[in-house]
Amino acid sequence: MSFLIVEKEVRPGVALIRLNRPESLNALNRALVGELTETLLSLDKEDSVRAIVITGNERAFAAGADIKEMANDGVVDMLLLDQFQRWDQIKRLKKPLIAAVSGYALGGGCELAMLCDIIIASETAQFGQPEIKIGVIPGAGGTQRLTRAIGKSRAMEYILTGRFFSAKQAEAWGLVSRVVPVELYLEEALNLAAEIAAMPPIAVQLAKQAVNKAYELSLEEGLHFERRNFYLLFATEDQKEGMRAFMEKRPPQWKGK
Ligand code: CAA
Repeated sequence: MSFLIVEKEVRPGVALIRLNRPESLNALNRALVGELTETLLSLDKEDSVRAIVITGNERAFAAGADIKEMANDGVVDMLLLDQFQRWDQIKRLKKPLIAAVSGYALGGGCELAMLCDIIIASETAQFGQPEIKIGVIPGAGGTQRLTRAIGKSRAMEYILTGRFFSAKQAEAWGLVSRVVPVELYLEEALNLAAEIAAMPPIAVQLAKQAVNKAYELSLEEGLHFERRNFYLLFATEDQKEGMRAFMEKRPPQWKGK
C-alpha cells in the first residue's frame, strides 16, 4: 500500500509528492515516512528533477507522527527503530525541497515542513508542536528548528502549551516565506519550484548547502564555507556560460556541469 502520490514534471524539472493518508490527516506512520524518505532519495539522484514540492491536502499537511502506532512502544522499540534518523537522511538531500502547507502541520508535520528549505502556506494553515499534550516533546527537530525560526520565547510558549499558531503568525515570525489563499498555495509552491528548477543546478545545490550551514556554524566558519562554495563554482561550465550570457545580453543555456 502506498501512502504517497508522486508526479514528475508537474512543471519543467519539478517533482510533486503528495502525502496521501487523508483518513488520518496524513499522520506520519513508519511506512509513510519510510516511503517518503526512499522516494526523496531516489528523486534526489535523478538529473531531470531540479526541485521537489511536498504537500498534503487542503485539510492537513500532516497532523504529526502516528500516535496510535507508537502509543504502546517502549524505549527499546524507539531506540531500535530509530525512526528519526530518516529525518537526517532528508536533511542531507541536495535538491531544494519546498513544503506547500494547508491545514494542520502539527508535531512531526510541522517538523517535516521545517525540514524543507522553503515553506509556502495557505491562509488556512495551522502550525504547532502539540506533543506536550500527549506526554512527550517534539522528537524530529521541533525544539531546535522552531526555536531557530521564531525565537526562544515564542518557541517555549508554543512547545510548552502545545497551542497552534496561524499561517499569518508563521509569516510574521519568519517561519514561512509567504501566505496565499487556499486555492493558490500549491500553484504558488510549484511556480516557485519551477523558477528554482530553471537556475543552474550546481549553483542551486551549493547555495542550499551554504544557507543551511548558517544554522550550524559560527559566522566565521559559515563565511568560510560560503566562500569555498563560491570559488568552487568557477570550476563549472555554467559559471562561464552565465557570465558570458550576461555580457552578450542573451539568456543563458545551463548544462548542469
Ligand atoms: N496520529 C494518529 N491518528 C491521527 C493523528 C495522529 N497524529 N492525528 C489525527 N489522527 C486521526 C484521528 O485519530 C482520527 O481518526 P479516527 O477517525 O479513526 O478517530 C482522524 O485522524 C481525524 O482526526 P480528528 O477526528 O481528531 O479530527 P479533528 O478535526 O477533530 O482534530 C486535530 C484535528 C486537532 C489535528 C486532532 O486530530 C489532533 O489533535 N491530532 C493529533 C495532533 C498531535 O498531537 N500531533 C503530534 C503527534 S506526536 C509527534 O508528532 C512526535 C514527533 O515529534 C515526531
